[in-house]
Amino acid sequence: MIRKIGISTGGGDCPGLNAVIRAVVRTAKLHHQWDVVGIEDGFDGLIYARNLRYMSIDDVHGILSRGGTILGTTNRGNPFKHVVVENGQQVVKDMSPLVVENIRVLGLDAVVCIGGDGTLAIASELHRLGVPVVGVPKTIDNDLSATDVTFGFSTAVDTATDALDRLQTTAESHNRVMVVEVMGRDAGWIALESGIAGAADVILIPEIPFDIRRVCNKVKQRRLTGRRFSIIVAAEGATQLGGDRIIQAEAKAGYQNVRLGGIGHSVAHQVEEQTGIETRVVVLGHLQRGGSPNAFDRILGTRYGVAAVELIAQEKFGYMVALRGRAIEEVEIEKAIGQMKRVDPDGQVVLAAERLGTEFGRPDSNQSE
Ligand code: F6P
Repeated sequence: MIRKIGISTGGGDCPGLNAVIRAVVRTAKLHHQWDVVGIEDGFDGLIYARNLRYMSIDDVHGILSRGGTILGTTNRGNPFKHVVVENGQQVVKDMSPLVVENIRVLGLDAVVCIGGDGTLAIASELHRLGVPVVGVPKTIDNDLSATDVTFGFSTAVDTATDALDRLQTTAESHNRVMVVEVMGRDAGWIALESGIAGAADVILIPEIPFDIRRVCNKVKQRRLTGRRFSIIVAAEGATQLGGDRIIQAEAKAGYQNVRLGGIGHSVAHQVEEQTGIETRVVVLGHLQRGGSPNAFDRILGTRYGVAAVELIAQEKFGYMVALRGRAIEEVEIEKAIGQMKRVDPDGQVVLAAERLGTEFGRPDSNQSE
């Protein structure tokens, strides 16, 4: 018998988180008459059992259109490897027993964990320890294979497309090359889709290591045909042929990932040097994660939230919701995590862009090294 559930958001934020929170609270309360406890700052809120609050319908009033998450989040909140400072030293500790105990003491019959691969992996481990969890997948990178789409992605593509549209006019006025670095650690979905929607001349994605000569040739070719500006969109995780990802900073204690960044500047430097054309860089960064979710992400987040509550009602713990085609389905979290959905370099979308003349920097087999 379910009476009280918890809800938390973990990992990097993205547009649409509040839509899920609102849908969970409203469905749980209006349809099931359950209590809902909001847990702040991801799993940290369960380690320290602080700032926990009962959520009313009023608490979620007006949040559908708001970016971010009203519950707060962190992407260093792994209770199994929690960083604490003891005697001035950073120590990594397993705080999962505390999380399990706090959930018991709070009387939570289930916890909705909204997050990306990292958060869902932690949720799955907690489930193995007996915690009744259900998952909701999110990430602007759209790289979770269990679901066709994660919410947040569509809004991020809109933001990047808008940036490309704006940069196009200034690039054209000044006859410049503009390199736009977008997010996408392991998968180039944002670069690919915004690149197509924003008519980029070159799209660089992690799935296709690029030959800088192809990139420069494209820019030069455009000059010869009277197009004196070019737009290049590069995913932060894109790599130059034979090179590695460019890292801005190593992973700090508690963080799962290194901080990527710099590919835009590297490409710009080489293009300017090899073509002689003034080349500027714009790094979109966290702009892509902020702001109001678009209609698609509001609807997807809402549907995910309702479906997550339904999973709890059916006591299907250890499962997450996923979009398959047009339907919301359930997937075992354990089976879903760790499998990345990457762009198929020979898939329809990339090939369609290539038909239009978009350059991906694929190495030319006829070109000598
Ligand atoms: O995983 C989503 C993501 O937006 C990545 O594309 C990006 O590398 C990362 O988050 C940035 O995270 P942080 O907020 O820790 O810099």
